[in-house]
Amino acid sequence: MTSKKSKILILGFGTVGQGFFDLFSRKKDSLGLNNVSISEIVDMKYGHIINPKQDIIREIASGKIFPQKDVISTIKESDADIVCEFTWLNLKTAEPAYSHVRTALELGKHVITTNKGPSALKYKELTELAKKKGVKFLMKGTVMAGTPSFNILDLLPGAEVKSVRGVMNGTTNYILTSMEQGKNFSVALKEAQELGYAEADPTNDVDGYDTASKITIISHILGWKHEFADLKIEGIRNVTPEQAKAKTKLVAYADRSTAYVRPMQLSKDDILSGVSGVMNAIEIETDTMGKIYSMGPGAGKIQTAQAALTDLVTILR
Ligand code: HSE
Repeated sequence: MTSKKSKILILGFGTVGQGFFDLFSRKKDSLGLNNVSISEIVDMKYGHIINPKQDIIREIASGKIFPQKDVISTIKESDADIVCEFTWLNLKTAEPAYSHVRTALELGKHVITTNKGPSALKYKELTELAKKKGVKFLMKGTVMAGTPSFNILDLLPGAEVKSVRGVMNGTTNYILTSMEQGKNFSVALKEAQELGYAEADPTNDVDGYDTASKITIISHILGWKHEFADLKIEGIRNVTPEQAKAKTKLVAYADRSTAYVRPMQLSKDDILSGVSGVMNAIEIETDTMGKIYSMGPGAGKIQTAQAALTDLVTILR
């Protein structure tokens, strides 16, 4: 791909931001993105970095800090045309990510986010704003990291989706799989946190809110009217080791009229019953294809970075 000249501003240089920087640097030549550069990074901890050097991750790991700058002013003053929003998840107000995304879109910048807050809670407003400004607001990384999920539908023009069902949270699936193998809940949760799968506040994972935000995002994309606040949500706190051994999974489901998240015991011949550990899977039932499936990692540094790279290529295409 030969691309037009583009500059990227990264908001948030934690796991996902660093993963994206690393992946972009390694893949840009093979993708033909010679005219695209990461021109700016802003992070609460590391400060404001202009034209980051190739070894920026090593620099900050060794303690280097850059001058602090407010994120909104950075967006307003930046000449980047693409903003990558990788800050933390807030499923109550979507802030500060919502303001970051809105500011960038208002200025006519494309936005890529892996943040479920603005995507689940403010989808309609932000999508309409992006459309008005003639830019893209993309969020592949919010559902199953880089593993194809709702974006599979781009390959099925005209297909009408009847229902979506999935195991879409790596942390809870990791915990349930570990419980199936005899580990206790808290040990398994601690491992999922250490492996970087869990949200900063793991209650979002354990109590089903993370999964609920994902099925809400899919519903928004499909034009279904489910809102996050109205979803029936039950997490995995009450799942017993016996139920975990009997293939209980945290299942998200939506069709046009209903949407929920709850632990369900799946039969052995259900494809979703074989989804283990941090793996996620989605089943999409369409009028033309019947049921199709995608399975793969739903969390992780490079896996989430892949999603942002996928969105970047979509913007530049
Ligand atoms: N905490 C999430 C999970 C990260 O465990 O799946 C990816 O959304």
